[in-house]
Amino acid sequence: MMLCPVCQKNLTDDLSRFVCENGHAFDKAREGYVNLLAGRHKQGSLIGDNRDMAKARRRFLEKGYYDFLAEELVRLLFRFQKENGTVLDISCGEGYYTDFLRRKTQADVLGFDISKEMIRLAAKKYRDVLFFVANIASIPLQSGSIDAAVQICAPFHEKEFCRILKKDGILLSVVPGKRHLWGLKEILYENPYENQPDKSDYPSLRLAETIRIDKTAVIEGRETIADLFAMTPYSYKTSEQDKQKLLSLDSLTTQLSFDIRIFKKEDTL
Ligand SMILES: C[S@@+](CC[C@H](N)C(=O)[O-])C[C@H]1O[C@@H](n2cnc3c(N)ncnc32)[C@H](O)[C@@H]1O
Ligand SMILES: [Zn+2]
Repeated sequence: MMLCPVCQKNLTDDLSRFVCENGHAFDKAREGYVNLLAGRHKQGSLIGDNRDMAKARRRFLEKGYYDFLAEELVRLLFRFQKENGTVLDISCGEGYYTDFLRRKTQADVLGFDISKEMIRLAAKKYRDVLFFVANIASIPLQSGSIDAAVQICAPFHEKEFCRILKKDGILLSVVPGKRHLWGLKEILYENPYENQPDKSDYPSLRLAETIRIDKTAVIEGRETIADLFAMTPYSYKTSEQDKQKLLSLDSLTTQLSFDIRIFKKEDTL
């Protein structure tokens, strides 16, 4: 179901590489992933999250604080009977959720991200998932090939997400809830703002339902708090002084909150 990013013909798996009928070839890296970025974006290491961010994300997710989100995604795949289909993790990062979905379902699970560092880490650890480097603006997969896609806290691309889904396919799009990380924001800012709702009206993807999940967590240990902070957009825009207020804590109590938006492909498409 993979497409050549240069000419959009089908790619075939030729052991050490993927090739199309026009002779465009994409070598598999030592870790098993394939880089399907074309043209000026080919050097994926220059874009997307860097290695330190990838490692911080991995250390934090492996502590299990966000497993309630992963479990809910699994429940939804079963509810919509997608647990045996082809599931795509869009902008999968270092692969924690991708592998979680693979372990808890019988689906064929694929994951991609624009960051080569993220995909390298993902492919090195999770050998049973096919990972590739690609851009959401041009996903190298056949139209109508995906039963369910998950997209967790990452950019949205209506046209491409709609194109790759099967007729009855679903997209589980996760965005931070209104008060996600409220406790962390209260430490950093005098007047924290609630997160604003994301755009959810799209002509080709119908929002069928939104599931809100919440919990209060106690994040233990300075390294883990620093890793969580490194995963947030606040890490770019907080003063050194405010950062220190957070990074000197040994434990942090905070609300965790996600909105899972269930989109269905419009029947007329
Ligand atoms: C906040 S991280 C979330 C990663 C993963 N979904 C998770 O929750 O652990 C956002 C991800 O989107 C990726 N990303 C950003 N722009 C992208 C694009 N145009 N195409 C594919 N991935 C992109 C980044 O490299 C990063 O890994
Ligand atoms: Zn080609």
